[in-house]
Amino acid sequence: MAEQLQTRPLGGALGLEVTGVDLSRPIADEVFDEIKENFWRNPVLVFRDQDLDAHSLAALGRRFGPLQLHVLVDYRHEEVPEVSWLTNVKKDGSVDEVGYKRATSWHSDGTFEEHPPAVAILHAKEIPSRGGGTLFCNMIQAYETLPDETRERIRGLTGRHLYAAGRGGNETVPLKDYQKGTLPEVHHPVVRTHPESGRKMLYVNDIHTFGFVELDGEEGETLLNGLLDHATRDEFVYHHRWSHGDVVIWDERATMHRGAGDYAPTERRIMLRTISFGERPE
Ligand code: SIN
Repeated sequence: MAEQLQTRPLGGALGLEVTGVDLSRPIADEVFDEIKENFWRNPVLVFRDQDLDAHSLAALGRRFGPLQLHVLVDYRHEEVPEVSWLTNVKKDGSVDEVGYKRATSWHSDGTFEEHPPAVAILHAKEIPSRGGGTLFCNMIQAYETLPDETRERIRGLTGRHLYAAGRGGNETVPLKDYQKGTLPEVHHPVVRTHPESGRKMLYVNDIHTFGFVELDGEEGETLLNGLLDHATRDEFVYHHRWSHGDVVIWDERATMHRGAGDYAPTERRIMLRTISFGERPE
């Protein structure tokens, strides 16, 4: 019998729970099309009680397009390098302090690359008893609610991106020495048009964006801080509180996200993640 999807909004700005599909098994094309239609309208989808291993997670990710090999090589999965561990536990069982604090500033993954990814998938394997959620904000709504004069001001502006060079760059994992010279500054438009929905969205983030090509010094810094503060106002945010087995799929272009980081480091938080360039890589 064909799977019957049901959806339920989770937050005012974004977040849609989807039930009626087992993501660990091959998904029929028409069901996947329905998932994508929902996704282009709501850039964070939540699926409950799932059980995927690294292979089935990679297979799901590939439905959205080619997969990325994550820049943090130490966290890549042993058997499936396109899947990474997001974990606060080292191989010897001790607390991974870097993994614990990682990614607690607002960001979108890989904007420091010339061709940033489009879709990310995170799957909860072990979760702390309290806290440790993930927050998402809606960069389409953020753009659409800017004052007219700000929208006019940022039209045609270009963001400067470099790994961890933004105001929230301390809250992420440092690159290895051999990687440092290999990731030069890249530029992306501050306002992008979503390739699937055609809607405009703001494309800057706290970790990797550090200014604008067209604006120097304080003027650029003030504008960037204002855009980031606006985008992360409570009304544009969905706070996902994880349950074991949750799969969350988010649109990297239409959102920023961050770990809430509000859990005891000694409690295990282990997730599997894969990131896709999408069907229409930039
Ligand atoms: C991430 O930035 O992908 C991870 C966010 C989190 O740890 O909740």
